[in-house]
Amino acid sequence: MNWVELQKRCYTPYSCNCDMCMVVGRSGLFYPGVRIENISFSLSVEAIQTALFSCLSEGDEPVKLVIPKAELNESNTVYRKKPNRIGEWSGYYPMKVNEVADPGMAGGARIFQTEEKKVSFSRLQALIQRCVIPYSTFPVSALLETDIGIFSGANMELADWQKGLCAERVAMSKALSCGAKVFSRIHIYAPKSDFVSPCGACRQVMAEHMLNGEVVLYHNEHEITRLPVSALLPYQFVASSLYKQHK
Ligand code: THU
Repeated sequence: MNWVELQKRCYTPYSCNCDMCMVVGRSGLFYPGVRIENISFSLSVEAIQTALFSCLSEGDEPVKLVIPKAELNESNTVYRKKPNRIGEWSGYYPMKVNEVADPGMAGGARIFQTEEKKVSFSRLQALIQRCVIPYSTFPVSALLETDIGIFSGANMELADWQKGLCAERVAMSKALSCGAKVFSRIHIYAPKSDFVSPCGACRQVMAEHMLNGEVVLYHNEHEITRLPVSALLPYQFVASSLYKQHK
């Protein structure tokens, strides 16, 4: 794993501007974070939000931030696909990244990867302890099924309220930063709610990354609602909505 590899996980089809970093936890694990844009631009997630929240939601303590060096180096040029006007990938353009600024990473850092194999209500309950909710005191947990395993999420609040993230978006941004490509199902639990229902922002981000996926809402251990993501956000504004399509 190096910066060039991590850069490929950036999800920046709109601006094509990549950004990435790593947060090192007290455990010694490196948590990757990439910039994840959203078609509804204010919902875009910064690399540092993802890396920091990944670390915290894994119950680790952030001790160090690692970023790529600012100077560019010809040998580290990678080619990223550029999206066309309707958000499909087409063509390539060069981007340059430099070697890692942190000697620990250059020496073969241990990069976080999920070890979760299965979804259970008790896992959702246990995750509630990881929520960082000094302002709302309203905990939410999430488990996201992907092609490379199950990623957990817990809601994270910061003094800058706008920079916090819901449990669902912590799980989705963590999964993308760890290289997941396909999101099939997201399980959500909010113990203080009689009826769990994801917020509009999370619905929009789900529509972008898992429009054909499913949402499973745990109102408690026995009362569960299953819904297609597309039903939670009808008439979605997604990449294909951008331009008239001539068939
Ligand atoms: N929250 C979630 O984590 N997911 C949702 O779908 C709704 C809201 C969090 C955000 C904030 O930390 C707290 O719940 C209250 O809004």
